[in-house]
Amino acid sequence: MACDLLQRHFAGLRKILARVYDNRWEAGRRVSHPSCETIPAVTSLAKDSPFLRACRREPVPYTPVWFMRQAGRSLPEYRQARAGVPMLESCTRADLIAEITLQPMRRYRVDAAILFSDIVVPLKAIGFGIDIKAGVGPVIDEPLRGQHDLERLRPLEPGDVPYVTEAVGALVRELGDRPLIGFAGAPFTLASYLIEGGPSRHHDRTRAMMYAEPELWHALMARLTAITISFLEVQIAAGVSAVQLFDSWVGALSPSDYRTYVLPHSAQIFAALAGRDVPRIHFGVGTGELLGLMRHAGADVVGVDWRVPLDEAASRVEAGTALQGNLDPAVLLAPWGVVAARAREILLQARIAESHIFNLGHGVLPDTDPGMLARVTDFVHEHSAR
Ligand code: CP3
Repeated sequence: MACDLLQRHFAGLRKILARVYDNRWEAGRRVSHPSCETIPAVTSLAKDSPFLRACRREPVPYTPVWFMRQAGRSLPEYRQARAGVPMLESCTRADLIAEITLQPMRRYRVDAAILFSDIVVPLKAIGFGIDIKAGVGPVIDEPLRGQHDLERLRPLEPGDVPYVTEAVGALVRELGDRPLIGFAGAPFTLASYLIEGGPSRHHDRTRAMMYAEPELWHALMARLTAITISFLEVQIAAGVSAVQLFDSWVGALSPSDYRTYVLPHSAQIFAALAGRDVPRIHFGVGTGELLGLMRHAGADVVGVDWRVPLDEAASRVEAGTALQGNLDPAVLLAPWGVVAARAREILLQARIAESHIFNLGHGVLPDTDPGMLARVTDFVHEHSAR
């Protein structure tokens, strides 16, 4: 009964939103792309995994689990593998990409692997002057300032990232029935680094360009959209089973600005990947007010940070949406009793969602005890078994 009411409510809302967008999004969805024929047969082994079933909102034996940044500095073997190798170089060596991606799979019974890479890899691959500084994040040699800078963002060709194709192929064979998630940074989050020159608190220059020079903004977003589509297509062609679009910093925008300056571009990315039989996950931090719109951009699964309880998040997205999240990564630094209670609460709150994939509300913090992640994974599996 309640479910019926909710369904009707969201059907109405969907209609209103479609009108508000002047059908731009719908138009985007009709863009057709050639289907991909190069996916290795081995990818089909993962098709019936709990993670992919949950993405498709099908019944699962238990709630699947994976963690954003499950590979990384919380693992001693990661620090060892990376010793003396700069971050972006490690993302261009297929052997290291595969090894680091597999490290958490050896420790945890997580339900999916996520490709070891970074959102700035495609930008580096087209020759853009960008690096990742340890403990800081992406830094740009010459930040984008004007129209003339757009030339520096040429399209990405599959041949620009051969190491991604090679690593994904090797990983898919190694993982067998465990799905591999590919990912990319969304245009807004990429633009924020390019314009600010590095990490920033409120992305002031980015928002200023949006308001002051909307034409330049949309031209920049269009270039980043094309690069992102191409980067995700390479990963899908090589065999990833799902993709996550990280719009980590888009929570800096109001819903109205999101709709005008971001949604049409993100929608184009999701539309380009429609019909590939690869679930599309969309995640950002501090995006409580944007969850409905981020779903509307064309995602199958919406990632939620720890600020919005999942039962509340479920009411903010339209019917037909799976949710992913949302344990505060800092909770993992507390004693096990606290962690277990929070994990249990999330499972309870998620019951109202059509489907749920357990994750953190953002990436694993470097100080996290890997033993804690192993324990949470098993706890979620046990306590959600149906
Ligand atoms: O989740 C995974 O296990 C896959 C690996 C992954 C990395 N970056 C590896 C990485 C993913 C999914 C990303 C995405 C990414 N990169 C995002 C979106 C996700 C998010 O966190 O919101 C963003 C914003 C970036 C940009 C970036 N790269 C930042 C902010 C940092 C951290 C800087 C720091 O040192 O704290 C990086 C570097 C980075 N990317 C590391 C890893 C494992 C740490 C580098 C190191 O080991 O020194």
